[in-house]
Amino acid sequence: MRRKLVIGNWKMNGSLAANSVLLRGIAAGPANQNVTTAVCAPAPYLAQCQAELAGTAIAWGGQDVSAYAAGAYTGEVAASMLQDFGCRYVLVGHSERRAYHHETNELVAQKARAALDAGLTPVVCVGETLAEREAGRTNVVVCAQLQAVLDVLENPALEKLVLAYEPVWAIGTGRTATPALAQELHAALRKQVAVRSESAAATIAILYGGSMKPENAKDLLAQRDIDGGLIGGAALKAKDFLAITGAA
Ligand code: G3P
Repeated sequence: MRRKLVIGNWKMNGSLAANSVLLRGIAAGPANQNVTTAVCAPAPYLAQCQAELAGTAIAWGGQDVSAYAAGAYTGEVAASMLQDFGCRYVLVGHSERRAYHHETNELVAQKARAALDAGLTPVVCVGETLAEREAGRTNVVVCAQLQAVLDVLENPALEKLVLAYEPVWAIGTGRTATPALAQELHAALRKQVAVRSESAAATIAILYGGSMKPENAKDLLAQRDIDGGLIGGAALKAKDFLAITGAA
């Protein structure tokens, strides 16, 4: 039985004042013992997350990580730096990074590996665009994204991976994948992991992301292979985020 995991991805939103209200609101909410909860904040606010969330049941993490350990990489944030601020998770290969920063499957895989090497849990995001879905290429695209990561990881590191299936057409659009459609993809991803390692396939959490909200969370999270959610817009309001963690 895999434990549910709900992660809020704040994207490039927030301020010291707004984060404080949000973090306190989340921390004050009813604890759901069956769910692990985390927020992924912009890098400058990780110290604030650490200060506000230390001692609570809520974990925090970054939204991106460098593939390199240290050195002349202006603007990059190393996995060890995220560790310094108490991060447990880091998002890797979010579709916005793939689209706007031209991150390739191979770079995403290197980032996942750098995160694992530093003791962080990478949340590797995969997902197809609308054009890819309409062209019938969903499985090919998503499987290639996952395979690049599988190719650079060995057990037992592989078992620590978290995957997030985020169809690009569902992100921020209000157009959520149906539970059946999401389940189908999640099952396919798990099957692909099983080819490499049955134990990793049984262990790895596969989150769904893309317009998950209080109204649709329960049905999505009830699916056999949906182990939690990666929440964007609804993670910016404590009430909505808590409603989703409560549904998990
Ligand atoms: O990483 C979370 C995400 O991309 C989904 O965003 O706003 O559709 O929940 P949203």
